[in-house]
Amino acid sequence: MGSGDLRFSIWIVFALCLVCFSVGFDPVDKYYINCGSSDDVKVGNSIYVADKSASKFLTTPQDILADSNLNSITPSEGSLLYRTARIYTGPSKYTFSISQNGRHWIRLYFYPFVYQNYDMRSASFSVFAQKTALVSDFTPKNETVKEFSVNVMSGDLVIAFSPSSNSFAYINALEVVSVPDSLIVDDASLFNPSGAFNGLVNQALETVARVNMGGPFVSLENDTLGRTWVSDRSFLLQPNLATNESKISAVKYPQGGPTSDIAPPTVYGTCTKMNSGSDPNSNFNVTWVFNVDPGFQYLIRLHFCDIVSTAANQLVFNVYIDSFLVAQDLELSTKSGGQLATAYYMDFVTTPFDKSKFGLSIGPSPRSGYPDALLNGLEIMKMNNSRDSLAGAAILPTFPGSKKKLGVILGVSIGVPLALVMIGILFFMHIRRRQERLRHSRTWVPISINGGTTMGSKYSTGTAVSVGSNLSYRIPFIAVQEATNNFDESWVIGIGGFGKVYKGILNDGTKVAVKRGNPRSQQGLAEFRTEIEMLSQFRHRHLVSLIGYCDEKNEMILVYEYMENGTLKSHLYGSNLPNLSWKQRLEICIGAARGLHYLHTGDAKAVIHRDVKSANILLDENLMAKVADFGLSKTGPELDQTHVSTAVKGSFGYLDPEYFRRQQLTEKSDVYSFGVVVFEVLCARPVIDPSLPREMVNLAEWAMKWQKKGQLDQIIDPNLVGKIKPDSLRKFGETAEKCLADFGVDRPSMGDVLWNLEYALQLQEATVHNDPEENSTNVIGQLSPQVGDFNHVDASPSVAQFETSSVDDLSGVSMSRVFSQLVKSEGR
Ligand SMILES: *[C@@H]1O[C@H](CO)[C@@H](O)[C@H](O)[C@H]1NC(C)=O
Ligand SMILES: *[C@@H]1O[C@H](CO)[C@@H](O)[C@H](O)[C@H]1NC(C)=O
Ligand SMILES: *[C@@H]1O[C@H](CO)[C@@H](O)[C@H](O)[C@H]1NC(C)=O
Ligand SMILES: *[C@@H]1O[C@H](CO)[C@@H](O)[C@H](O)[C@H]1NC(C)=O
Ligand SMILES: *[C@@H]1O[C@H](CO)[C@@H](O)[C@H](O)[C@H]1NC(C)=O
Repeated sequence: MGSGDLRFSIWIVFALCLVCFSVGFDPVDKYYINCGSSDDVKVGNSIYVADKSASKFLTTPQDILADSNLNSITPSEGSLLYRTARIYTGPSKYTFSISQNGRHWIRLYFYPFVYQNYDMRSASFSVFAQKTALVSDFTPKNETVKEFSVNVMSGDLVIAFSPSSNSFAYINALEVVSVPDSLIVDDASLFNPSGAFNGLVNQALETVARVNMGGPFVSLENDTLGRTWVSDRSFLLQPNLATNESKISAVKYPQGGPTSDIAPPTVYGTCTKMNSGSDPNSNFNVTWVFNVDPGFQYLIRLHFCDIVSTAANQLVFNVYIDSFLVAQDLELSTKSGGQLATAYYMDFVTTPFDKSKFGLSIGPSPRSGYPDALLNGLEIMKMNNSRDSLAGAAILPTFPGSKKKLGVILGVSIGVPLALVMIGILFFMHIRRRQERLRHSRTWVPISINGGTTMGSKYSTGTAVSVGSNLSYRIPFIAVQEATNNFDESWVIGIGGFGKVYKGILNDGTKVAVKRGNPRSQQGLAEFRTEIEMLSQFRHRHLVSLIGYCDEKNEMILVYEYMENGTLKSHLYGSNLPNLSWKQRLEICIGAARGLHYLHTGDAKAVIHRDVKSANILLDENLMAKVADFGLSKTGPELDQTHVSTAVKGSFGYLDPEYFRRQQLTEKSDVYSFGVVVFEVLCARPVIDPSLPREMVNLAEWAMKWQKKGQLDQIIDPNLVGKIKPDSLRKFGETAEKCLADFGVDRPSMGDVLWNLEYALQLQEATVHNDPEENSTNVIGQLSPQVGDFNHVDASPSVAQFETSSVDDLSGVSMSRVFSQLVKSEGR
């Protein structure tokens, strides 16, 4: 009786699982990595995270992040994933923690290009999953996606890269994703010798072909498991003997049978069939031919769905694999209780092939009233051999120790408390410094620590969460939960490498942006600390301010002031937001330049932002610009020497080529990136647009070409045509050009950039009669005492100068609303 109950509940669980699967499979484990890239990229429905977010899984002798953008050989077409790669000069491995045992996809993306001394077109290497060799002495010749699935029985999945002798390994993108248990079950037939195959569940499989018969290419977006299906035309031996049919809307998935996870309706709803015409005596096979590796067994999955018959029992046909009759007198309607258009599949395991091609045929059965035969889909999967290999005899490399892993564990258990202590110390130092500074500075926004309590005790004395204090402090997790409607997915306003950003409302009504880090991300912890550290030290009208943070329960949550108008980028392209006027754009650039100028000069040590881009410039309700995202910031250049070996960080299209070459970080790298933003603002197009002709892909190169010709007006945002005064445009273009100088020393400081942009604004606003080129000092004198040209400004403006200018801009152009707000917040 007890066992009967148990069986009953197992059935219920099973039935519930079927229900889950029919709603769409949600993988428990999912790792998508954009190797070598500093950017997250969305491909299909998945976000491939920047390399830095995955480095915690990796043990490798050397960090080499290759970027094709700065090279002559650029994969101009194809996936964004192919633009960067990670290079492994010695045995390297990723260790992914697996929450749910069972089969997992492993997808490897390759696209060879040349990076420095590494010519990936000649790289040779092996890749292993656990102990199974996936590829062996492999040299990808072109854009290549290799898909495998392996059964993971332990808590970790190790994927190892092993360079062949005198070579190196690389990969452009990597993914590891759970596969539903129902996809590969132990239910395959052997046909030679005939019988049942046991042990399919434990096999490692490689997808050799996945074909949509008689239908179009099915992209990964249109497959619930992120698979792709190619059309069968090119595999047909005699295409004229075949025809196709499509009836996608008719497809039914039977109760307890295949779901759309087995194959989507676009596969079951299209077929290739015999082209019998109206000849009732037609007697031929339709045959497809595939290339295979000899010496391996293959799992062949045939997908059928009778979308051609008008009544049950009309269609009867034969199926041959490699000339063996594997299904005689197949009558699909009998497999589904007389129903037509019902999904059905069969699995077969072959003996090891001894040749490199095999054929699959369908042909009429004498029992059929009318000669016909069809096939809707086909999958061919290579199975591992008895040496546990899918590819030759590669030998699993040995790894020197497991230092890195230990480091991660120690890092987590010691690092978090240590970080908190450090943050605490920082705050106290910071408060000290604040008080010191207040005595010296006229312009610093006064800090009020409510009631003089320290930040730690703030919450024990009261529960109101408010922004009354300008000093960031710890916010209880429960308050963050409340503010974001328990992290309501519909409140998500952005997704970044660090995690999701939610809109939130504190209980005093203050709107906030809540950035919630992935709790397991070690790299994230470093960025979390940097961001708190930077933003609590540096407060400025043109830097996004931190309201608080939460580190309870391993959470890494940052709470910022809410920026009503989102990113600058979203106002330039890719959205339906109204166009910004030229004046608004200039003011935004000036604001952002001011924020960066402050970072570079405003404190004892310069801070380098390292990720200046239009997506990191946010706009408040008055379209005032504030620089955000300090996760990558570094103080420099004093720290240079110690950072020579760290991986180059930043974003594609904005990266300073000199920083890339020399790996030396200075403020001038930010100036370069800012120059790219300046062109982006003018041209209103993405900084990298792979869909454009090759010479236009990279905005910095493209715009510089036109700037040097003196014809920048040819490529400006069409919405600005006729609205920019030529002098203003010229000044603006020159400013950008100088920012993009090849060598950092030739680039202006952020202070110079700021003044030149202000000048460009004034040239736009003022009715200038003089020719500024001939007599610029004179014009500058008329416009404003602060506005100078590159030649007239001290190369490194002092803090005092900065503060003067900052005071000045409070009374400046169209900033009055901002000013009144500031006064109000200071008065609290
Ligand atoms: C790489 O693939 C592209 C498109 O798939 C093709 O045009 C090109 O000729 C291939 N290159 C080589 C070297 O095979
Ligand atoms: C269907 O068949 C026609 C010709 O018979 C062919 O042109 C077309 O490409 C086929 N469609 C697919 C998706 O195979
Ligand atoms: C997905 O399928 C829909 C409907 O069949 C089609 O309109 C769309 O273009 C497909 N998407 C891709 C990326 O192939
Ligand atoms: C179809 O192919 C099978 C296997 O090669 C063969 O035995 C059969 O005779 C063929 N049928 C026709 C009608 O050609
Ligand atoms: C594939 O590897 C598994 C696990 O090592 C092993 O049990 C199985 O026998 C192998 N398959 C074949 C066909 O030898």
